[in-house]
Amino acid sequence: MSEHIETLTIRRPDDWHVHLRDGAMLGAVADFTARVFARAIVMPNLDPPVTTPEAAAAYRARILDAVPKDSGFTPLMTCYLMEDTDPEVVARGFADGAFAAVKLYPKYATTNAAYGVNDVRKVYPVLDRMQAIGMPLLLHGEVMDADVDIFDREALFVDRVLGRLLADFPALNVVLEHLTSAAAATFVRDHQTGREGRLGATITAHHLHITRNALFEDGFRPHMYCLPLAKREEDKRALRAAATSGESAFFLGTDSAPHAVDAKEADFGCAGVFTAHAALELYARAFAEEEALDRLEAFASLNGPAFYGLPPNEGRVRLVRDDTPISESIDVEGRAPVRPFFAGQPVGWRVETENGDHAQAGRTAHGGEARPSGS
Ligand code: NCD
Ligand code: ZN
Repeated sequence: MSEHIETLTIRRPDDWHVHLRDGAMLGAVADFTARVFARAIVMPNLDPPVTTPEAAAAYRARILDAVPKDSGFTPLMTCYLMEDTDPEVVARGFADGAFAAVKLYPKYATTNAAYGVNDVRKVYPVLDRMQAIGMPLLLHGEVMDADVDIFDREALFVDRVLGRLLADFPALNVVLEHLTSAAAATFVRDHQTGREGRLGATITAHHLHITRNALFEDGFRPHMYCLPLAKREEDKRALRAAATSGESAFFLGTDSAPHAVDAKEADFGCAGVFTAHAALELYARAFAEEEALDRLEAFASLNGPAFYGLPPNEGRVRLVRDDTPISESIDVEGRAPVRPFFAGQPVGWRVETENGDHAQAGRTAHGGEARPSGS
């Protein structure tokens, strides 16, 4: 199925949804993102969450400390929305450049979502202000009602919550994050016109590769557990069609979400798949399988900046065929390691950056342990 293209050069991409964490974990993972991506929308779900411009600026400084000085990486910070968030604080952070966007987690939907929003109406004053100043709203799109099947949470969010939100805020720019269902992809595609604001959507690399079967392959597989959960084969096909369509609504957001192996392989194990070590490579693999490598640049490097009103990056990265396996684990200082997606297997590509010295992060010839080279 794969196209016989051996190398591909594209504009340097951006990651419009990533978890970089803090402390030792930040030190272990930040370079993977920074070596390839020029900018990243950094999720605010630390504990405690990032809710003020001051906290965002301090977190941004810790991220910049953790990446090589020559990486040319710009973190774009987000504000964690709570029911009592002050619209003035959000607006001040946006005006200062401390916040690029606001993230809405439905209460209890995912990692550190206990501070999230139970009743969307309570945050209408914030959304009103964001609409007025052109600040994007990023949505974790799942309903949390106890009677809703966990695999239907996204489709019902789109149906019950998102349509209403877009109608109530016709000029608000909204990103539906990490699409996992055909229903959500169709909704995004169908809502491109008739509104003053825009509706965009990010698609992760792992959701282009796995279905819910991956959770139960030869036993329960906690490292395939992420939220929203991977869905059926027909959903994966719809996500591949959306990502490779070239349509401007769809852009790259890895949702790379590292957790130490002991937090994943546990009762009440954490949700999150770590993909930053080979993110662009994993997208390239899916695009090659769809014979759509010519549309990877639109998805990875053009559609996102256009949505956020930013120029595309001037640098270039080169994808080269490579069958070296991904390392089995990523070291984290003083803690259990992280198990990377595709551990021990070849992805089929490697990224060469203009900063050649960071080019081999996350990969070893023997599939052993690897550390990002700059931290
Ligand atoms: C994310 C995390 O671990 O922070 N987990 C995940 O499964 N994607 C949170 C999130 O984005 O849902
Ligand atoms: Zn996420």
